[in-house]
Amino acid sequence: MAGTVWRSTLWRLMGAMKTPGPQHSRPFTRGIQTVTLIPGDGIGPEISAAVVKIFEAAKAPIQWEEKNVTAIKGPGGRWMIPPEAKESMDRSKIGLKGPLKTPIAAGHPSMNLLLRKTFDLYANVRPCMSIEGYQTPYTGVDLVTIRENTEGEYSGIEHVIVDGVVQSIKLITEEASRRIAEYAFQYARNNQRAGVTAVHKANIMRMSDGLFLRKCREVAEGYKDIKFTEMYMDTVCLNMVQDPTQFDVLVMPNLYGDILSDLCAGLIGGLGVTPSGNIGTNGVAIFESVHGTAPDIAGLDLANPTALLLSAVMMLRHMGLHDHGRRIETACFSTIRDKKVLTKDLGGNSKCSEFTNEICQRIQDMD
Ligand SMILES: NC(=O)c1ccc[n+]([C@@H]2O[C@H](COP(=O)([O-])OP(=O)(O)OC[C@H]3O[C@@H](n4cnc5c(N)ncnc54)[C@H](O)[C@@H]3O)[C@@H](O)[C@H]2O)c1
Repeated sequence: MAGTVWRSTLWRLMGAMKTPGPQHSRPFTRGIQTVTLIPGDGIGPEISAAVVKIFEAAKAPIQWEEKNVTAIKGPGGRWMIPPEAKESMDRSKIGLKGPLKTPIAAGHPSMNLLLRKTFDLYANVRPCMSIEGYQTPYTGVDLVTIRENTEGEYSGIEHVIVDGVVQSIKLITEEASRRIAEYAFQYARNNQRAGVTAVHKANIMRMSDGLFLRKCREVAEGYKDIKFTEMYMDTVCLNMVQDPTQFDVLVMPNLYGDILSDLCAGLIGGLGVTPSGNIGTNGVAIFESVHGTAPDIAGLDLANPTALLLSAVMMLRHMGLHDHGRRIETACFSTIRDKKVLTKDLGGNSKCSEFTNEICQRIQDMD
């Protein structure tokens, strides 16, 4: 199926649609827009096909350019993604990605890491919103984690000092800290969010987290309309599990973001229902489900496509296609709320295809 182009059916030209979107979103353009689709491995192709079908039902003005990605060795033995996938992303600027397997002992870095590096995907954005009808111990969760994705504890600088003593370096730069803080405040403003909390441990890591925090404070000066707070990472964890409704947008360095974004996904039901987007430089953005390839259920029509679908809704909003995003999201949430057609992981007995068809039907009923 590589290289297949799916074209959604004709769509109505939209009139006065404003394009708030995040800071680096593309300006809304009329016409059909191309998106690079990376279906991924395991259940990836099934959930990608579900999203494509739902987009067709919603008449989303998207043309998919499907590319598979596997790590290949480039000049000088450097690992890279296939040039066709890179070229497609360079053209389209927008990608939707299913899960990718990381073979153990394959000798290459994880594909997700390669993609992040290739497109300098510096911000990971995860909105976590309670889903009506899908019960968890928490209600009313509505927050967004924004994680710096390129440096911090994940710089990969580690070495042995002497036998039995290793050192790992946490790299924090002024530039990356300012960039992520700017993104967080702009995101808050564009998405009608009231506040941004900088999450840090500057009391312990005075220089590194201190620099991150200082940049957040400086950027906050330019956004007087957004309430700025700062909080220690451990305090955020404590307060988050006690009452997550007190949080709005949270911005943080890489490791804290990795941990806190999964914790927050847990509050609303897990990775199977949590969308995610990665924002890069030069207007590139890749939206993805953050669960794995689920090899145990791959090919059995049992996968839940919600996380990839909600990531695709995020993508539509990023592209300024708010009306299409709203219709798809409403159909997805109402399907879950009504509990009649649910995949197994959501507590039902339906197949992926049945869940998908139900969402398509609800979208068509809105016409
Ligand atoms: N973002 C990514 O690309 C990503 C993330 C995590 C893991 N992985 C890769 O995925 C592979 C498997 O990892 P794992 O088993 O640790 O985690 P996993 O998320 O694939 O599976 C954990 C459990 O959750 C279930 N599950 C996950 N997604 C589901 C969905 N959409 N619908 C229904 N059930 C779902 C699986 O059936 C399994 O029981 C590994 O190769 C790993 O490297 C990729």
